[in-house]
Amino acid sequence: MKKHVVLYKKLSAPLMARLHEQANVTLIESLDEGGLAQLRDALPSAQGLLGASLRLDAKLLDLAPHLEAVASVSVGVDNYDIDYLTQRGILLSNTPDVLTETTADTGFALILATARRLVELTNMVRAGNWNQNIGPLHFGSDVHGKTLGIIGMGRIGEALAQRGHFGFGMPVIYHSHSPKPLVEQRFGAQYRSLPQLLEQADFVCLTLPLTAETQGLIGAKEFALMGPKTIFINISRGKVVDEAALIDALQQRTIRAAGLDVFEREPLNHDSPLLHLNNVVATPHIGSATHETREAMARCAVDNLLTALAGERPKNLVNEAAWKH
Ligand code: DGY
Repeated sequence: MKKHVVLYKKLSAPLMARLHEQANVTLIESLDEGGLAQLRDALPSAQGLLGASLRLDAKLLDLAPHLEAVASVSVGVDNYDIDYLTQRGILLSNTPDVLTETTADTGFALILATARRLVELTNMVRAGNWNQNIGPLHFGSDVHGKTLGIIGMGRIGEALAQRGHFGFGMPVIYHSHSPKPLVEQRFGAQYRSLPQLLEQADFVCLTLPLTAETQGLIGAKEFALMGPKTIFINISRGKVVDEAALIDALQQRTIRAAGLDVFEREPLNHDSPLLHLNNVVATPHIGSATHETREAMARCAVDNLLTALAGERPKNLVNEAAWKH
């Protein structure tokens, strides 16, 4: 008998067709009030769940007593109560690898946009305020040859290091829970303690996951270690940063600029002070958001889900202990 899969993310026609072949599918088109009510109605008979951007906590999971597998269309799994899923033997999978290069591209786009003040100066041209040749007031800062500091040297950190080292001749320093000899060999990267990195990097880039240990990792004390020329880039999760401390550092110009793809609360509040700062480039969590990469992520999630529902180990299993359950 076909299993019941609840999707809370729309997939492309070929992926929908593949799922329909192998499962009874309920599609929740959006996560507004009505969609959430539909989701709650569908959960009691669900064996598989697939989607992203929804906090799946114990309360919601308790509505799904037959759930066997959850496939997240994301690499980050901070939206899931992993302990509870594991305790219930529900397999959680994610979509690493396929989004690495695209997310690193986003990081580099923010590095270039902040350093060269692309958004601010584009806005000036659009507003009809380009009235004479620009001077030092509008100059940016170099990217090539500057020190790239990466906090969290996982797959995305490595892809950022590759771009900085080979593309822009940047010395790379990094901080992660353990040194990475291979990364040091390939990109000449050097390990630093967190305070050393914050003091020495021209670009401080966050690429680490949100966990209990990383929440609030960068706050007032850490911004105080950066200098007035430091540019801060966040492509990981907003909650790794104390946003009020970041806003303060940007307003006081104790750091030069910030390129932010993620925020404490998403979508970003319309009254956030970040929206009024010229030295901020803010994007709406576009890390992996290209047509090609989002399709590859969705395909990966479908593979993971169907494998898990067939009783096999999905390739990108997050909670190994649930498999042994
Ligand atoms: C991810 O895959 O985790 C991206 O940040 C999208 O949420």
